[in-house]
Amino acid sequence: MAFLLFCVSFFTLFISTFANCRPNGTLYNDICYVAYSDQRSFYDAEAHCAQEGGHLAAIPDAFTNKFLADLAKPVVGIENYWIGGYYFNNLNTYNAFWAWVDYESFEYTNWGPGQPLYNLSSYCTIQIPLSGKWGVVECTAGKPYVCEYTNASQSCPIPGWTTFSNVFNGCIQVIQNAYTWPNALSSCEDYGANLISLHNDYQQSLVQLFVMNSGVTGYHLWIGLHDPQNDGNYTWIDSTKVDYKYFDISTLSKDQCGVIHNDYRWGIEDCSIERYYFCLYSFE
Ligand SMILES: *[C@@H]1O[C@H](CO)[C@@H](O)[C@H](O)[C@H]1NC(C)=O
Ligand SMILES: *[C@@H]1O[C@H](CO)[C@@H](O)[C@H](O)[C@H]1NC(C)=O
Ligand SMILES: *[C@@H]1O[C@H](CO)[C@@H](O)[C@H](O)[C@H]1NC(C)=O
Ligand SMILES: *[C@@H]1O[C@H](CO)[C@@H](O)[C@H](O)[C@H]1NC(C)=O
Repeated sequence: MAFLLFCVSFFTLFISTFANCRPNGTLYNDICYVAYSDQRSFYDAEAHCAQEGGHLAAIPDAFTNKFLADLAKPVVGIENYWIGGYYFNNLNTYNAFWAWVDYESFEYTNWGPGQPLYNLSSYCTIQIPLSGKWGVVECTAGKPYVCEYTNASQSCPIPGWTTFSNVFNGCIQVIQNAYTWPNALSSCEDYGANLISLHNDYQQSLVQLFVMNSGVTGYHLWIGLHDPQNDGNYTWIDSTKVDYKYFDISTLSKDQCGVIHNDYRWGIEDCSIERYYFCLYSFE
């Protein structure tokens, strides 16, 4: 009897571990992967993964690479599909890198012959399931995709926001209501959040991906940067250090509130303009 109970509880444990994975998902190294056959741009694919609590799949090693190729084949056939690699080029410092969505690393690579090629206007990665090799494709192309769902230690308490556990240790959202900077700030605060602060190229690059996701490209968005004394001493409203700047210096003005511009560099504008805004909810 005791043995039977043991078997039953062991079986229940086994099932519940797998129950963490999504419908149609496969667990590998404690990460749940799901292949989707619908065609989306890289940004829309990432938005779909994020809506479900994950991200486009990262590939840290050859075993995962093979696993994902085998997972994707029955779903996408011979078509290549999005994996979560993207390229960022800092327009001021020319610091350029490949990264996985929400990871500050891109160590293992499996580029196909001649790849990566740098003759496009945006750079996102696909895997060819038949060979497991990677290539670079314009991020706006429509492709099937694979999402990964880790059981992150913390999830976002605010429905609809996107969690970036590693790069932001929190979740972010663009709020599409036009408010003055002070009103945008109090709106973020109503969520227990703040206007966003940015501290490195990885955060900046995810903000860019996110803006493309949310379809507000071309708008200026308030961020948490301001110059309260109007003396050129910029501070972040969340009191974090100003240890990173991404200004477009050609557009700097004597105003007091920070925005993200069309090319994703920052500017300073009149705080009373009404704009959409970027909030960050930080995990403790
Ligand atoms: C699982 O995959 C099948 C076949 O692709 C699809 O019809 C179904 O909607 C999927 N289920 C979920 C919950 O995504
Ligand atoms: C995910 O949850 C399972 C079952 O609770 C646990 O064994 C595993 O370590 C967790 N994985 C991660 C990446 O936290
Ligand atoms: C980029 O270069 C490759 C190899 O020369 C070529 O096949 C491809 O058509 C080029 N793409 C564009 C958009 O120029
Ligand atoms: C800039 O502002 C911060 C916060 O108000 C203050 O601590 C710092 O001393 C100021 N720096 C300069 C150079 O005025």
